[in-house]
Amino acid sequence: MGYDAKFRVWRGDLDGGELHDFTVLVNEGEVVLDIIHRLQATQAPDLAVRWNCKAGKCGSCSAEVNGRPRLLCMTRMSTFGQDEVITVTPMRTFPVIKDLVTDVSFNYEKARQIPSFTPPADLKPGEYRMKQIDVERSQEFRKCIECFLCQNTCHVVRDHEENKTAFAGPRYLMRITELEMHPLDVGDRTELAQDEQGLGLCNITKCCTEVCPEHIKITDNALIPLKERVADRKYDPVVWLGNKLFRR
Ligand code: SF4
Ligand code: SF4
Ligand code: FES
Repeated sequence: MGYDAKFRVWRGDLDGGELHDFTVLVNEGEVVLDIIHRLQATQAPDLAVRWNCKAGKCGSCSAEVNGRPRLLCMTRMSTFGQDEVITVTPMRTFPVIKDLVTDVSFNYEKARQIPSFTPPADLKPGEYRMKQIDVERSQEFRKCIECFLCQNTCHVVRDHEENKTAFAGPRYLMRITELEMHPLDVGDRTELAQDEQGLGLCNITKCCTEVCPEHIKITDNALIPLKERVADRKYDPVVWLGNKLFRR
């Protein structure tokens, strides 16, 4: 059975905006993105929202629902009470372009700052071999759909614009970890992580992990192991000597 829901949707641009009230039909089985589409079709044709797959796989429809960072297409209306007012706002950490669409180019800039996979010079494509356990270890990180909800949630940048130049954010520190754990990669990105990408600013609160729609254990499986590697390479004399003699 359908019912009328009360929605508050943020509308505006970089110069400012405000919450607009709507009453809109909700049908059984719908998600928040369906309701935003119905608003576009019936009441607010110029309402901007970014989406592509409607299946939780493209990472485009990230926003905040009742203050919680979420994918609009994976947030079921059945998780809210029928008389609850549902507030939809853009991700707070990134500049608004229009309505629910934010400029996420910060993330692409950070991605470009990380040196890519670097195999040994004498290994040709087709000769790469690695153990299944190493494949499985990085597989978790490769589930990332780049929705940037973790980046949006992390308190290091959420309320501190000034930290953005010095902090890659959980998604890209996780990318560094993935490359560090790769058995065929000969690069060393631990100094980069600590000195240029702000690993030390992360105080392992796990807020990023809590909002990841792919349920990646970002903090436990990427950030903490990366911190341990940085500490080992810097302060453990045996590891330090090993790295000097047998630089991987
Ligand atoms: S665990 Fe680190 S990266 Fe994740 S939200 Fe907390 S401070 Fe940010
Ligand atoms: S790690 Fe999770 S929350 Fe972060 S960008 Fe990837 S899928 Fe989104
Ligand atoms: S539309 Fe693709 S993840 Fe939501």
